[in-house]
Amino acid sequence: MSLFITFEGPEGSGKSTQARILYETLQAQGYPVILTREPGGTRIGEWIRQILVDLRHTEMSPATEVLLFSAARAQLVNELIGPYLAEGGIVLCDRYADSTYAYQGYGLNHNLDDLHTITAFATGGLMPDLTIYLDIDAERGLERKRQARPAPSPLAPHLAALQESRPPTYGKPEWNRLDARELSYHQRVADGFRKLMLREPERWRRMDAERSIEELAHLIVEAVAPLLERVQQYNPPPNQSLPDAAHE
Ligand SMILES: Nc1ncnc2c1ncn2[C@@H]1O[C@H](COP(=O)(O)OP(=O)(O)O)[C@@H](O)[C@H]1O
Ligand SMILES: [Mg+2]
Repeated sequence: MSLFITFEGPEGSGKSTQARILYETLQAQGYPVILTREPGGTRIGEWIRQILVDLRHTEMSPATEVLLFSAARAQLVNELIGPYLAEGGIVLCDRYADSTYAYQGYGLNHNLDDLHTITAFATGGLMPDLTIYLDIDAERGLERKRQARPAPSPLAPHLAALQESRPPTYGKPEWNRLDARELSYHQRVADGFRKLMLREPERWRRMDAERSIEELAHLIVEAVAPLLERVQQYNPPPNQSLPDAAHE
């Protein structure tokens, strides 16, 4: 068995921060785990991401936006998420299909049934076992994001390699085309996420993103713990299997 966990929430709610902490926690406990993000996470997907976030692309049609997100997702599921789950691992993903429903559905008023059809086509119907929702007022989250400083990320070397000669963007405070939309859009998105949670309450865990980073990390570990039984740990954990040179 495998485990697929996603992080959702408005910009600046702490998704990337908490995904990184959970990744490091599970890895230290000897679980087979990977961390990835949307849009992106693959060579093709990172190129699509550049097109999506480029502030110059003001002419992008709403349908183009949906299809580019979906194309990046299709590649990610096919190339990375699907194969890793098939091996029985844990996949952590910073945003996934729920973001399409919230941002392009509730935010841009696309028909939700159409989005569902496109998403099912892109993902083969793969949905997370658990989705952590970091709940924050949209304006407050954007403010946090504006003030964000570059943070080291376990994804950085991986993504730098994917971006080839392009400058790595991960970990940099990126103020992009999608962030730059008006506040009312971001508020519709946040309301949309709440509606999505009401539809499938068993899959979602909502957390108050105003709590401290440490408190949230603890709550997330608690939420994940019951699901870990289905994943086989490495024995012993890989980073503890090397002899300690200092004692030789
Ligand atoms: N619980 C928290 N309390 C206060 N600041 C936080 C918290 N979680 C994250 N931050 C800060 O908010 C900013 C945005 O966090 P980030 O994880 O990048 O959010 P997201 O990935 O959801 O956009 C970063 O500067 C981060 O350090
Ligand atoms: Mg982020």
